Amino acid sequence: PAPGWTARTDVVVIGSGIAGLVAALRCRPYGRVLLVTKALLDAGSTRWAQGGIAAALAADDTPDDHLADTLTAGVGLCDEDAVRALVTEGPQAVRRLIALGAEFDRSADGGIALAREGGHHRSRIAHAGGDATGAEISRALLAALKDAGIEVIEHALVLDLLRDGAGRAAGITLHVMGEGQPGGVGAVRAGAVVLATGGLGQVFSATTNPEVSTGDGVALALRAGAEVADLEFVQFHPTVLWLGDGARGQQPLISEAVRGEGAHLVDRSGERFMPARHDLAELAPRDVVAKGIMTRMRETGDPCVWLDGRHLGASTWERRFPTILAACRHHGIDPLNEPVPVVPAAHYASGGVRTDLSGRTTVPGLYACGEVACTGVHGANRLASNSLLEGLVFAERLAEAIPADARPAGEDAQPPRDGGRLLDPGARDEIQRIMTEHAGVLRNAAGLATAARELERLSERSGGPGEAPSAPCVEAWETTNLHTVATAIVAAARRREETRGSHWREDFPDRDDTAWRARLVTRLADGAL
Ligand code: SIN
Repeated sequence: PAPGWTARTDVVVIGSGIAGLVAALRCRPYGRVLLVTKALLDAGSTRWAQGGIAAALAADDTPDDHLADTLTAGVGLCDEDAVRALVTEGPQAVRRLIALGAEFDRSADGGIALAREGGHHRSRIAHAGGDATGAEISRALLAALKDAGIEVIEHALVLDLLRDGAGRAAGITLHVMGEGQPGGVGAVRAGAVVLATGGLGQVFSATTNPEVSTGDGVALALRAGAEVADLEFVQFHPTVLWLGDGARGQQPLISEAVRGEGAHLVDRSGERFMPARHDLAELAPRDVVAKGIMTRMRETGDPCVWLDGRHLGASTWERRFPTILAACRHHGIDPLNEPVPVVPAAHYASGGVRTDLSGRTTVPGLYACGEVACTGVHGANRLASNSLLEGLVFAERLAEAIPADARPAGEDAQPPRDGGRLLDPGARDEIQRIMTEHAGVLRNAAGLATAARELERLSERSGGPGEAPSAPCVEAWETTNLHTVATAIVAAARRREETRGSHWREDFPDRDDTAWRARLVTRLADGAL
């Protein structure tokens, strides 16, 4: 639809997790900044982050050690320069976050308390409120935002990119819901557009991600002709609380930090199964643990495995994991007295909109940071607690690049190309079912072909020639975005005929460095992937 109103700014940032907030704050000294977010300011994934933020802060740790663990977890596909930037700039960036007001847990000597998680050979995870790290970071950044003179529009779904005559990003169209601000579809003209829209976990039936994680940024970027990369590497967190077969939507996360404190994964008979699979046992990289759990579930026929943390004792549970303890008890399980039933669930998009080391996408004037971006730091499998760090470090980097690159908001912004018909919101459940059944933790050629066919059929059903498109409501746009992203994930997963990191092909069970030590880049050209 044609925009009913137009606003102007220098930089528009879309998303209000750690990446969006840091980008907005750091861009503010250079001009007007407008922050647009789909729901409330703290509704995204950052607030849900439990374990913490990884950085080489300990006396016995170094950025090189953090680099080595990140490269190992990424199974040969990380961009080493991007990882080096992450790990060397990370410690100072965390200290800047502390200076801005974020309060991390302290050890007895007053230093920052550091925990361990999967894939890390050192204790390097800073945490807050025990297991409420994201909530504290979000609180501190939102407090800073209030004082920074940054305009905010909440309840606004970004739709498409505006481009000027030269093809450069010139703003966005958006749909604003609710009252008290210009409503309906509008346009924001801007010299630079920053995507910080977060993840896409809602493509699957069960995920750790909140409802808002519908891949809007990746879908926008694809429609705008930007390159996306590594989409096949959707990371499944090994341990969410098992709520019974058919559990849907956001699931309670049981942080890796619980294993970091010494909890064990066991099967129904109480046997630990990870020590036989990896020398780090329960603290192996995340993909290894998720695979270990799925394999054991297949062997035993059980719908879950169990996380036994009874030996941690009440004081550790209460001090370190108050959120998790409360969530388990809410669901009738007491981790102090019984093992917690757990399963893997979709957690993190290691891929996304392809950027350089300063957040520039392949469309001039369009930048990306945080989970929506693919900077190359995660490769085939993100290392635990590197995501908050990536959002922080690369948002800072991008904010240095924008003043050098940016032009005034273009007068000649062209309307976005017609992105095709909108899907019926009722298709959302169907997309999630297709992806969970055929493109989840375990993949094979036949299942992925079925997924591609069923997704194609969904798009035909929602608008063949002569049929009316779905009414342009937010639910229809979100469902259309989920469909675009699901289709791109399936296409990438079909192409990669090997098993690597979080991409597990039953029909190609081995890693193949000869053919596949390369990143898959996807682009939409003339409406096709
Ligand atoms: C967790 O606390 O286990 C999640 C940390 C992460 O995803 O990096």
